[in-house]
Order: sequence, then C-alpha cells, then structure tokens
Amino acid sequence: MEKTLVIIKPDAVKRGLIGEIIKRYEAKQLTITKMMMLTPSRDTLVKHYAEHEGKSFFENLLAFMMSGDVVVMTITGPNAVAQVRKINGATKFLDAEMGTIRGDYGVDITANLVHGADSTDSAKKEIDIWFGL
Ligand code: TYD
Ligand code: MG
Repeated sequence: MEKTLVIIKPDAVKRGLIGEIIKRYEAKQLTITKMMMLTPSRDTLVKHYAEHEGKSFFENLLAFMMSGDVVVMTITGPNAVAQVRKINGATKFLDAEMGTIRGDYGVDITANLVHGADSTDSAKKEIDIWFGL
C-alpha cells in the first residue's frame, strides 16, 4: 500500500469538476483516506512548491493556487503515486493524453486542474505540510 497527496486546484473547483476528478481515482480502486477544502495560505504553498522557488512561473503559480478553494486529499492504494500521476496526465495540457484529467479538461499551463505528489518521499513531505504530523 502506498499513500499520495492530491490537490484539486482552484480552476477545477470553480469548473465544478470535483466529482468528475474523484470518480477517476475511485474507478482505479484508489481510496480517499483524508480530505479537506480550503483556500491555501502563501506559507503552505511556499513549502509545498519549494522545489520551484525562484523559477519564472513561481509567483504566478502561487497567485493561482491562492485564487480560491482547493480540495486536498490523501489517496491510498497499490502504486498510488504512479497511478495518480497517470490519471492526472502530463503537466502541460498539450502533452497530456486524452483520457487523462489534464488531457480531457486542460486549457492552461498553470491552471492544470490537479496536483499529485511525484514520489513517495514527496508524498510524505506534502502530507506533513497539508495535514500536519
Ligand atoms: P511541476 O512540478 O513541473 O508539474 P506537476 O504539477 O505535473 O508535478 O510544476 C508544478 C506546477 O507549476 C504545474 O502543475 C503547473 C505550474 N507550471 C507552470 O505554471 N508553468 C510551467 O512552465 C511549469 C513547468 C509548471
Ligand atoms: Mg511537481
């Protein structure tokens, strides 16, 4: 069993896609084990996106992530990290295959609907950041 951290981003919440997105994880027999809705603070996002600090898109990314409510979840199951990344699709919507969340709904590089941790190590760190120890 593996655990990962998933965020349904503000664009997806505003577009009414929460149910559609959760349905896709559950269809692959992944289990939602924690879930909360909130507008993230800058502090939390700086920690969450620490690896991108200093990059050209960093401030724009934070502003977008603070623009409304997000849904933060832990998702548990076999190969949860890789399964979620596959269901989410490639970061850039034009590279994302149809059938993935970003492939089917993506229209913007920054507002790309979902986040999934990229490794079990990242997942542990991110779960601590969002849900505490
Ligand atoms: P990244 O960690 O590379 O992608 P992923 O979310 O697939 O792990 O980037 C984090 C987020 O930053 C990405 O989901 C959208 C945003 N982003 C941009 O706004 N512009 C960019 O050029 C890139 C690479 C990412
Ligand atoms: Mg990433």
